[in-house]
Amino acid sequence: MKHVSILGYGTVGSGVAEVLSVNRGRIREGSGVDVEVSHILDLRDFPGDINEDKIVHDINDVLNDPDTDIVVETMGGTGAAYEFTKAALEKGICVCTSNKALVAAKGPELMKIAEDHGVRYLFEASVGGGIPILRVLKTCLTADEINGITGILNGTTNYILTAMEKEGREFNDVLKEAQDKGFAERDPSADVDGFDAARKIAILASLVTGKNVDWQKVYTEGISEIQPVDFKYAKVLKRRIKLLGAFRKTPKGAYVAVSPFMIPCGDPLSMVDGVFNAISVDGNMLGESMYYGQGAGMLPTASAVSADVVDLAVKGGDGDRYEWSGDDSDVVDFSSTRRRFFVRVSEEKKQDALKVFRGTEEVGAALTGEYAFITTEMSEKSFDEAASAIGGVIGRIRLDI
Ligand code: HSE
Repeated sequence: MKHVSILGYGTVGSGVAEVLSVNRGRIREGSGVDVEVSHILDLRDFPGDINEDKIVHDINDVLNDPDTDIVVETMGGTGAAYEFTKAALEKGICVCTSNKALVAAKGPELMKIAEDHGVRYLFEASVGGGIPILRVLKTCLTADEINGITGILNGTTNYILTAMEKEGREFNDVLKEAQDKGFAERDPSADVDGFDAARKIAILASLVTGKNVDWQKVYTEGISEIQPVDFKYAKVLKRRIKLLGAFRKTPKGAYVAVSPFMIPCGDPLSMVDGVFNAISVDGNMLGESMYYGQGAGMLPTASAVSADVVDLAVKGGDGDRYEWSGDDSDVVDFSSTRRRFFVRVSEEKKQDALKVFRGTEEVGAALTGEYAFITTEMSEKSFDEAASAIGGVIGRIRLDI
């Protein structure tokens, strides 16, 4: 019998309790280990809840219980979650989590503490929710050199972009509806400004390169500037607009970015709609492979956390680790990266644009009073210089990742 304590009885924590309870027999049959939830730490009481008798309010009730084998951290944040995770690992207790903010901020330190104490720190659910992408990278693709990863890593923004495109609605209107329906957070910044996806691509890039890719060094741009008309232009170009997290291994270090891109309709990522996530991996032997599923939500995320629980229950400190060193990975200067851009300028700026952006290709369906075009391949720096030389642009979206 392995005893599990869950820290945080919110959406994901209660989902983990449900998965481990509903599938207890299935887990015992499949893994040979019986897993039981013994404590649930939360500030609140849950009168009438099926797990009411397991609720504790003091972390020491978890840490000082000699029967605690595994801690599941589903509190979120980097404060108490960090302190409690560290304390559990130092006590020789394995920990698993869905907390991407903590993994992105303190991953190497917590992994090192785990290793020093003969236990493991697992975080499959921190990227892609229910999509088992870390295990795929760590074990299934272990014989491949991973040269690139591109993903739709945030369900909220993919839902908003899909609704804007299909219903021709404004960003703020769809965001408000998503908040009212409970898809989007009341403070939507981490999602719509791209920081959630930046943390996720940094975790993936760190795992693949073996060095720490600081999520704050990821070039990050969100979707709040995207307008309904952009989707009309994209349609003419046989493209779709997606917020992508991208990683490429380059001789100069890791290229990592989060930005809206206009990608061809033939790209499998362009077909991923609504709240779904998908992650495309480029291996030097396998080539492209793509992983698709629910990137958020109670049970999908809890399913991934529970897979870590079972792994820890069976192998304790001896199984595979998701790990990378605390050394900082070199990150490519984004301003030097090159690509084509889709650009909109006012009609009065058309001649200036033609002069400054040489070799442009006009995009049909121009609105009255607007000139839209695609640039030749140019660096980010050159694009910014050209855009300011003509006194600014109405909008621009990157074409090439
Ligand atoms: N807020 C995230 C999303 C889910 O919308 O994808 C948790 O990672």
